[in-house]
Amino acid sequence: MDYTVMMPAAGSGQRMGAGYNKLFLQLNHKPIIIRTLLVFEEDPACTGIILAVKPDERNEIQSMLDQFGISKIQTIVDGGTERQYSVAACIEAHAENGIVLVHDAARPFLKKSVIANLVQKATKYGAAIAAVQAKDTMKIVTDGVVEETVDREKLWIVQTPQAFRYDVLKEASESANRAGFLGTDEAMLVERLGHPVHIVESTYENVKMTTQEDLAFGEIILNRQQEDIL
Ligand code: CTP
Ligand code: MG
Repeated sequence: MDYTVMMPAAGSGQRMGAGYNKLFLQLNHKPIIIRTLLVFEEDPACTGIILAVKPDERNEIQSMLDQFGISKIQTIVDGGTERQYSVAACIEAHAENGIVLVHDAARPFLKKSVIANLVQKATKYGAAIAAVQAKDTMKIVTDGVVEETVDREKLWIVQTPQAFRYDVLKEASESANRAGFLGTDEAMLVERLGHPVHIVESTYENVKMTTQEDLAFGEIILNRQQEDIL
């Protein structure tokens, strides 16, 4: 089943502390943003990519796309001051019905089988998100004192991709922005309208490259993938 990807890449990577956009950092000789794009470039079901970038990084990103032969970019839009606004700019640039995936440019290790399951569930239910079960015991704490231990079975750590029918995502995004509501993921905006959001079990490897430790983890994942191929 075909889908389009909306990829926010207009952040500044503050927590990585590289002094520039973390997406330009290399993991085994390829920039993070390229590694993420290649997953979709190589997936026949992906028909197009809409990328949100910072205006002053547009040229640098365009030359990376050329260098690594990324051919599925449909549109490059200017990102906004918040991730949600960068995604809104992608939504505005797209007008086709069908399934769209929103995926962070900072998550290069997503699995193709997870994408396929997301597309299938979003087609059926309108909204589906990648997530993994919490491994640790989780507690609600107020002022340094435990209030409650949460039932771990019910806790999921949410990732991207998040997949939606285009009309569902568009309505949720426009409604949130009109109301000045800022969510931490797209699913929150859809939940806000009372629309059910389904879970697709993902892998613990699909981490977001956020801080320095994540880069070390990323290199381990890449080396392991290499060993699998050999
Ligand atoms: N992003 C975006 N527009 C923003 C902020 C973030 O398109 N205004 C993108 C980032 O480029 C990244 C994804 O959203 O691909 C997830 O965001 P995050 O991991 O928080 O990246 P940054 O915002 O760049 O990092 P930090 O929060 O540490 O500054
Ligand atoms: Mg951020």
